[in-house]
Amino acid sequence: MARIEKVNDITSGIGPVHEPQPLQARDGAAISMHGLTKRFGGMTAVDHIDLEIKKGELFGLLGANGAGKSTIIKMLTTMLKPTAGEARVWGHDVAKERNEVRSSIGVVFQDPAVDSMLTGRENLDFHGRMYGMDGPLRQKRINEVLELVDLTEKADIKMKDYSGGMQRRLEIARGLMHYPHVLFLDEPTLGLDAQTRRYIWQYIRNMNKEKGVTIILTTHYMEEADALCDHVAIIDRGKIVALDTPSNLKDMIGSDTVSLEVQSGAEALMLCLRSFPWIKSTVAANGILELMVDHAQSRIPEIMQEANKCGATITSVGLHKPTLEDVFLKYTGRKIRETGGAASLMGAMMMHRRRG
Ligand SMILES: Nc1ncnc2c1ncn2[C@@H]1O[C@H](COP(=O)(O)OP(=O)(O)O)[C@@H](O)[C@H]1O
Ligand SMILES: [Mg+2]
Repeated sequence: MARIEKVNDITSGIGPVHEPQPLQARDGAAISMHGLTKRFGGMTAVDHIDLEIKKGELFGLLGANGAGKSTIIKMLTTMLKPTAGEARVWGHDVAKERNEVRSSIGVVFQDPAVDSMLTGRENLDFHGRMYGMDGPLRQKRINEVLELVDLTEKADIKMKDYSGGMQRRLEIARGLMHYPHVLFLDEPTLGLDAQTRRYIWQYIRNMNKEKGVTIILTTHYMEEADALCDHVAIIDRGKIVALDTPSNLKDMIGSDTVSLEVQSGAEALMLCLRSFPWIKSTVAANGILELMVDHAQSRIPEIMQEANKCGATITSVGLHKPTLEDVFLKYTGRKIRETGGAASLMGAMMMHRRRG
């Protein structure tokens, strides 16, 4: 029953939903926060957040577990009252205009909130009724949102028989049922395998780029924030520590790193390479030569040629491009729990070299 209460809560006090006019103004902020703060007893979970998110954006809040991401989402979706500060969603104050805020938004919470004994279609229908959508509009919209997340063929199966990925997709469809301007997705791919995550990214992108829904998502997956978001705010201990596009954030870290495992001739190679102006620095340690290079992938052939010329034997070559993981480390002094990305790229290059 707790699950149904959650839906009741977010929908209470909302007037009937009608099909929206196709063109909506795209200027102005979808969301703004000023000094937004949440304390639980003596503990500050969200600490004076100032942030503006534009209409039409796909915006990411990236942070480790416990950073305060869900608490921000809960305040913006009127589920939690701010301790201090204020926030507006689609122009409405989250504390004083809760019903208006709720009519403007769709939410997929971190914890599942569907009735697993109902079919996908029944869950959507229930949600549509809660929002006061009439029968014909519900039918039309159910078919549209099912199509959006590729679940038309599974619509009449009970949700207890859905996979984790299908369940998340249905929850996203449900979040879209009542034509929200803004969709909040709290850790939309938490616990899903890499392939399912990529499918879900595609649905999220489509909703944003093709359907024009403003999307705010939280994640602790670096590559998810990198692959999906127009702008990313890195949240650490309730504060924003960095905010920009993923590519600007990565550019702040600097050049790429090329690592050469050198069997012999390392000294000579280092001297040769130092004469190239595009090599920013060289460091040698334990048989590994590390070079800082801009646009390194296009320089690797030249580096290999130079190694041949000066008689050095290279047994492997690795390339590390700055990732959001590096950005996170720079701003928080810690690593987020994450593997893949740069490590796998380096592994792939090393294998390639060994095979070659
Ligand atoms: N209802 C609550 N009561 C007390 N502490 C809470 C409550 N909700 C969250 N917290 C604490 O606030 C901090 C931020 O939590 P949360 O927003 O869930 O982080 P995230 O979603 O980034 O993992 C954590 O330390 C968490 O334990
Ligand atoms: Mg959370």
